[in-house]
Amino acid sequence: MDLVWLFCHDKFKILVLMICGSQNNSHLKSQNLKIFGQGKLNGTVPISGAKNSALVLLAASLLTNETIILENIPCLTDIEKMRNILNDIGVNLADKNNRLEIDSKNIFIKQLPFELVNGLRASFFCIGALLTKFGEAKVPLPGGCNIGSRPIDEHINGLQALGAEIIIEEGIVKAKIKGNKKKLNGTQIKLKCPSVGATETLIMAATLAEGRTTIENAAREPEIQDLCIMLSKMGAKIYGSGNEKIIIDGVNKLGGCTHKVIPDRIEAGTFLIAAAATSSSITVSPVIPHHLEAVTNKLQESGSKITIKGNSITIKGKEIKGVDIHTAPFPGFPTDLQAPFTALMTIANGESEITETIFEDRMNHIHLLNKMGASIKLNKNIAYIKGVEKIKGMDLVGSDLRSSAALIIAGIIAKGNSKIYGLEHLDRGYENFESKLKNLGIKITREFGNKILIEEKYEVNSEPNQVTRIEAA
Ligand code: UD1
Repeated sequence: MDLVWLFCHDKFKILVLMICGSQNNSHLKSQNLKIFGQGKLNGTVPISGAKNSALVLLAASLLTNETIILENIPCLTDIEKMRNILNDIGVNLADKNNRLEIDSKNIFIKQLPFELVNGLRASFFCIGALLTKFGEAKVPLPGGCNIGSRPIDEHINGLQALGAEIIIEEGIVKAKIKGNKKKLNGTQIKLKCPSVGATETLIMAATLAEGRTTIENAAREPEIQDLCIMLSKMGAKIYGSGNEKIIIDGVNKLGGCTHKVIPDRIEAGTFLIAAAATSSSITVSPVIPHHLEAVTNKLQESGSKITIKGNSITIKGKEIKGVDIHTAPFPGFPTDLQAPFTALMTIANGESEITETIFEDRMNHIHLLNKMGASIKLNKNIAYIKGVEKIKGMDLVGSDLRSSAALIIAGIIAKGNSKIYGLEHLDRGYENFESKLKNLGIKITREFGNKILIEEKYEVNSEPNQVTRIEAA
């Protein structure tokens, strides 16, 4: 059993040790969080390292034979899956507390393990690093949250433009550098949509390519900036990260470095929303406040008082006014906080409209919130909410990571008790969620039962292809 998780908090430690021995987390399906409703939060909550940063930084560690040390790695099942995938191809990972030492010098080129990649979309992002360093890569088509079709065409088109030959056979993406060349060729790439994953894949691929690569309409998420900072420490030449146009001048070799993962803006946003929903006062720290600007602006518009001091944000929840949100790529309102914000709006004064523009199937929480007494009408990917005075506690199953978080917030607001299942999703992305809530004063316990609530099939009355999508800017 791996010692990596020993830094985890009290009871959660035991849970995660069990997870470490498991590949599919199926035992988590019988667990639930029992929440005593009408809770209030009070205090300061420590924010963990960002899941989405940590995952891509792990992929980037494949680019060097020297040691990479990652600090502030969160204890999550997604991270564990990524570690298992890297381990499978010969990467040596040693850890102490939340610090991970990664040694990729003894990698052997083989196909990444199908079942593991299938359960973790971000592991597909290894393709760019493997291809540029070793000249070939075989990566199964990715899995991830059940929130839509999540294509990979932007990754494939970009890698082909860089000089890769790619075929997809029996669910495996097989890529190699064309001809007898040893290196990819720098080129100009314009993404059709600012995909986070594709931007990351292509940046990594370009770092060891011959000459200059320009990526236009690149995603600008903070996790991409974090990746570029680490790659620069490794010796990469990258200009304009955080902009729509990123330029990478290929180098011959990348070296080792030590890098601290940025705080998780989505985790911080989830706690801020939970505080607003319960008219509570809490501080989230450490955070990088401008990463959360779109969220804190909306919370302020909805009636909360926000104070920013250094690397912390304090919220004082008061009234809750209905406000509209429209998800968008960074610096817009993050799609990953759409579900939690919807839970907040269920008890707002007045009406609100929540429009999801990034993923076509990310409204799985709506019918569950309605079961709890919310008044939401869904038309395609727009939720029309009429705030109600209260919602009631229930036993429900979250069907993806962020919808599970939304149901937990709803359970905290609700009158009566709730049991929220679907923890196999929650534990992918929130470190010690219930311990942190408990420390803030919420009555919440993880129950380890035999009963498995089956996820209900959710049907939307809309054509997925009619959904408004983010187009190339
Ligand atoms: C990442 C995040 C996820 C977040 C999402 C959007 C990680 C591990 N996950 O996911 O938490 O919700 O960004 O902020 O970092 N698309 C294409 N073709 C492609 C790739 C994407 O059409 O090749 C589309 C997708 O279908 C989606 C949109 O682009 O509609 C955004 O997806 P993308 O930014 O790629 O999300 P991920 O990188 O998978």
